[in-house]
Amino acid sequence: MDRIRIVGGNQLNGVIPISGAKNAALPLMIAALLTDETLILDNVPRLADVALLQRILGNHGVDIMSAGKRPGDHEYQGQTLHISAANIIDTTAPYELVSKMRASFWVIAPLIARCREAKVSLPGGCAIGTRPVDLLIMALDKLGAKLAIDAGYVVASAPDGLTGAGIDFPKVTVSGTHVAMMAASLARGTTVITNAAREPEIADVADCLNKMGARISGAGTSRIVIEGVKKLHGARHQVLPDRIETGTYAMAVAMTGGDVLLTGARPELLQAALDVLIEAGTTITPTNEGIRVARNGAGISPVDVATAPFPGFPTDLQAQLMALMTRAKGTSHLTETIFENRFMHVQELARFGARIQLDGETATIEGIDKLRGAPVMATDLRASVSLVIAALAAEGETMVNRVYHLDRGFERLEDKLSACGATIERISG
Ligand code: UD1
Repeated sequence: MDRIRIVGGNQLNGVIPISGAKNAALPLMIAALLTDETLILDNVPRLADVALLQRILGNHGVDIMSAGKRPGDHEYQGQTLHISAANIIDTTAPYELVSKMRASFWVIAPLIARCREAKVSLPGGCAIGTRPVDLLIMALDKLGAKLAIDAGYVVASAPDGLTGAGIDFPKVTVSGTHVAMMAASLARGTTVITNAAREPEIADVADCLNKMGARISGAGTSRIVIEGVKKLHGARHQVLPDRIETGTYAMAVAMTGGDVLLTGARPELLQAALDVLIEAGTTITPTNEGIRVARNGAGISPVDVATAPFPGFPTDLQAQLMALMTRAKGTSHLTETIFENRFMHVQELARFGARIQLDGETATIEGIDKLRGAPVMATDLRASVSLVIAALAAEGETMVNRVYHLDRGFERLEDKLSACGATIERISG
């Protein structure tokens, strides 16, 4: 198993290119199941989760060609995938694959919409709370699918196709909104989703579906209207930049000090997080090429933040912000409102000497001057990168174990950071 070795203490200075968003690339790849024509996706990040989804789609008979590197391309420049679901040979998504990545459960939507049947294992994924799929099932049920749970599988059928309906989510859910939107694109009649998730990745997927011939309006707001169409066709779409990767590197710079340009990043995708960073003493400057992040001289100020659905502060940046606050000049409070149990990084951050107290869904962080490097363990995707942020500012050496969590969501992390002056290397095996 690979490990990452970091020697802390260096400032970050330079340029970090931001990759395509994992959380858009995954549903976009799944949307390819809705048509028998080819969907071309540009700027797809090279991540373990993307490779795993390629395998899962392959199991359904989907053909994926990844266009070769062009001269001058860096390995972390996004790849172009040509995805063809001309022949779906199997509508079952087995436990062995779905249990490795929660988002792969979402194949249930295009399969039921296009093939009128699907059998999909209940998901696994990051260990951050119970993460049920009841609202996804509710949405498909509203659209007229017959659903049953049998031996760990959701078995769905709609022999006469799906029918448009009103879907009112009792809780904002990204997964539920993706599933409802994809399924409703091929339903008969109109679907209105209320209390829809407003995350930019939802709007990106809607954009792509519209290029494929869908009729979706309102994506990006809490009310999405979908007029079902009979068939979707091929299209070409570029994955939007990863706002979580952007926020993560911005926090790394805030932690170490220095001056880094995050190229390709778009400030409107993470304004809430940028506002928090400004409050913490970071200078944020939007430029034509991306976002410039700097912290020179000034210390880190403490903040009080609660995670919330978009446009609020993202839960996917909570662990990173906590790492930053371990060195703030004062006491911070971070409240996690989206996922219960998303605090596995707390005990690992404590290994650096951080002072964090947990009380229900709120963590109180008492900033200290110096962290000390330590051997630590990555527990989930975002938690693991918070350990990297802590390590970059810690005195001495840190060894991050179980980095496969990092590889699921961060493209060539060690290259991007070492290019800006960090002492970081991957140790294979
Ligand atoms: C997506 C993101 C993940 C991010 C999360 C919240 C992807 C691949 N993953 O996850 O990185 O942290 O949004 O921004 O895009 N819930 C239910 N029943 C359901 C579905 C969800 O109760 O059927 C609950 C969840 O347990 C959670 C909340 O709703 O408490 C939000 O979950 P959701 O927005 O669906 O997250 P994901 O789509 O799984």
